[in-house]
Amino acid sequence: MDSHNFHSNDAVPEVKSIMQKEIFEQPAVVKKLFERCINTNDTVMLNLPLNINNIIISASGSSYNCAAIAAPLFRELLCIPCEYEYSSEFILQKNYFVTPETLFIFISQSGETSDTLQAIKKIKELGGKTLCITNAENSTLWNLSDYRILSDAGEEKSIASTKALCAQLFCMMLIILKIKFSKAQSIEKEIHALKRLPLYLERIIGDFDRFKIAAEMISKYRDIVILGNKTYYPVAKEGALKIKETSYLNVMAYPFGEFMHGHVAVLNERAIVIAIIDEENEESARRNLKKIRADYNPQIICISTVKDIDCGDFNIYIKTSKKIKAIFGALITLQLIACEIARILKKNPDKPKGLKKVVRD
Ligand code: F6R
Repeated sequence: MDSHNFHSNDAVPEVKSIMQKEIFEQPAVVKKLFERCINTNDTVMLNLPLNINNIIISASGSSYNCAAIAAPLFRELLCIPCEYEYSSEFILQKNYFVTPETLFIFISQSGETSDTLQAIKKIKELGGKTLCITNAENSTLWNLSDYRILSDAGEEKSIASTKALCAQLFCMMLIILKIKFSKAQSIEKEIHALKRLPLYLERIIGDFDRFKIAAEMISKYRDIVILGNKTYYPVAKEGALKIKETSYLNVMAYPFGEFMHGHVAVLNERAIVIAIIDEENEESARRNLKKIRADYNPQIICISTVKDIDCGDFNIYIKTSKKIKAIFGALITLQLIACEIARILKKNPDKPKGLKKVVRD
């Protein structure tokens, strides 16, 4: 297939499922959060403990992916250690390293996920400081937490989480900015990026017709691999989760470099690779993709913030120089691709087989 490079347009796509409707709501969700949580003086209006030197996050599914996407940002922007764990694994730990300066964050759309509730209860028993991000005010998680952030995405009906994750990630950004500001560091650039996020996300959604071409290609394969680095590795995992949940395809996500340590052997001409590339991993991604193509010759799709990226059979350009915007952009691109794959394969993304919205036990 020829190589294509795509740019934004303003087309308004037709809504085909609840999942798609909720993906389209994301610009409005982040706009509302911005207006509620950032005042006209660009001050972040959240009640948080600020004397924090360590962050530990526990969550499940997409909420876990949110933690994993945000953790490198906590480390980079705040220079604070930040670990995260699946709630189901967190509750099996023997030591929790509770200190007065450690903040334990629990993320849950429903606020009722059994593993995450067990996790917060363990920390409360040990006297740890707890903060929740949840979409459900007055949920069990909400009531158990010392500090609370309402992610305010509106009711999420689709079983595959989309707008709730986007709202959670926005809340994680707000936490970062609140702590950064308390350390007398400028948050001007980040506030500016968040302010422009709704418009940017609308542009990404405007590119849906182009993502449909990627979805059409991917839907022909049963071996699908998504690759990304650092914060984009959990973005890749989230994309894989969305495709798995709605089309029941076996999609694997890996960090680029690690993939080359043997995992790459699963590739062949009947496989497709989706590579997430930004300025930071461009050189290594290009090198690895060249090797992948030479040794295994799979189809390759690139989702990239690098203009004129040309190493895929199909290239999607996510136009922005701001990392915060690019993360949300890559997420929404993958959500829309997943939703469209389900439609092409005649699966109903709103009613995934055997899945429930709240995993209680
Ligand atoms: C993925 C999905 C699930 C949930 C997970 C946690 O699309 O919906 O993986 O993210 O069950 O649910 P919450 O966030 O309610 O704790």
